[in-house]
Amino acid sequence: MKERIEQLRASFHEALAACVSGQDLEALRIEYLGKKGHIAELMKGLRDVEDKKTAGQLINGLKTEIEAAILKADEEFKRAEIEARVRQAKKYNPTLITERELGSYHPITLATREVEEVFIAMGFTIENFSEIVDDYQCFEALNIPKHHPARDMQDTYYLDNGQLLKTHTSAAQNSIMKKYGAPLRAIFPGRCFRNESTDACHENTFFQMEGMMIDENISISNLIYFMKTMLSEVFKRDVKVRLRPGFFPFVEPGFELDINCAICGGDGCPSCKNSGWLELCPCGMIHPRVLEEGGIDTEKYTGFAFGLGLTRLAMMKYGVKDIRDFNSGSLKALSQFKSK
Ligand code: DAH
Repeated sequence: MKERIEQLRASFHEALAACVSGQDLEALRIEYLGKKGHIAELMKGLRDVEDKKTAGQLINGLKTEIEAAILKADEEFKRAEIEARVRQAKKYNPTLITERELGSYHPITLATREVEEVFIAMGFTIENFSEIVDDYQCFEALNIPKHHPARDMQDTYYLDNGQLLKTHTSAAQNSIMKKYGAPLRAIFPGRCFRNESTDACHENTFFQMEGMMIDENISISNLIYFMKTMLSEVFKRDVKVRLRPGFFPFVEPGFELDINCAICGGDGCPSCKNSGWLELCPCGMIHPRVLEEGGIDTEKYTGFAFGLGLTRLAMMKYGVKDIRDFNSGSLKALSQFKSK
């Protein structure tokens, strides 16, 4: 009996050392301490032993030893498991820079910046102006009195207090003249709004860039020179411009400025509706009443103004066929425009 006990003690410790998990340990516990385990088997064997007391004490000693060893090993396994989990959790590092997809500039932003650069080089300042304006700024100060038919084309969104979302960047002309006086060279890009049904060519929200130059002896030649230089820079070619008469109450004379079509070179193609020209930028000599309203001495100063359709420019520059792509938020469309 004594021998058998020693044998079991040795084999238990050997098996214990080989355990690598809580499951192994549980199997070992059942093998030794379970109902049909080695200890129970030794107990049964007591029947045939003479010195039951000594043998019983030896068996109990082994049982206690096994119980304690299993308990200790179990605790160790549990601690190791917790440590492993903590280590795993520590692997997460919120400051770690992983590969991330970079965003891209909106095509209108790219077009705006490009035009801005050209005008900065020509001594213009860039002005920022609010999107909410009042009736005076948007219409009255621009020689568009109430009930003037020119208002029909510029229906917009009105606030309860009578203010409105500006329909054109011209709405900033009056404030900028009052702010700086003459001489003045400024451009002011901005978001404009109109109550329009949308389709591939119309949006209720779009961008324009207004420009004004006021000084002594400013004439239509200055206007043509500045527009031609700017557009040649933007389109990276020597653009030809032509002026056609156009009516806008705040300029006199007023023009529609066209550029020659880059695709056909002026011969006519579907892009320019076979005319060879693309309508790009209304402009004109600032109406004396508009200058006066802005506090400018019309005896001394004259000036030109233009309203470049930035959204339209971006469409032409990047070959965008549907104006609605710009405000769609669609990454499929917008992520194609990377900055230079
Ligand atoms: N504000 C006009 C529009 O959106 C465009 C325009 C025309 C602006 C002639 C000008 C200009 O500065 O001279 O319809």
